Amino acid sequence: MNIHTYEKAWLAAALVLIVGFIVTITYGSVGLGISMIDDSEEVMSPGDISEDDRFGEPRVEQVGENEYEAYVVARTFIFQPDPIEVPANSEVTFYVTSPDVIHGFSVVGTNTNTMVIPGEVSTMTVEFDEAREYGVICHEYCGSQHHTMEGKLNVVP
Ligand code: CUA
Repeated sequence: MNIHTYEKAWLAAALVLIVGFIVTITYGSVGLGISMIDDSEEVMSPGDISEDDRFGEPRVEQVGENEYEAYVVARTFIFQPDPIEVPANSEVTFYVTSPDVIHGFSVVGTNTNTMVIPGEVSTMTVEFDEAREYGVICHEYCGSQHHTMEGKLNVVP
């Protein structure tokens, strides 16, 4: 083997690593029965939340055969609705906002999580395969009761 061959081998090894990382990041949640496929944000006024069609009455709504939208409010120190109930084998787009301070929305044991900023709507689309229960926690420090801020996400058969 000459130097040139070694270089080629290392280059190939580096490529395999990079592809491996991308695959891990993209498909890291496969097997947990839940995967985040989209993540984006929209702006709204925190004062308008209680008047808003979606967030005035936090809920899950069916919008297609297997498609749902979940309007979730994170506030000191609860999530609404609680529990969030979605059917198995569905695609759910979450819209999450806060009327007060920065919170987090994290589905325990999955890669589904987002920061929840007052005046912004965090949006993410998640696929749910099997029925099971998940915990939801706030992962951004939001005040004295931050550590108690938790909810439930139930994927029902
Ligand atoms: Cu809400 Cu920490």
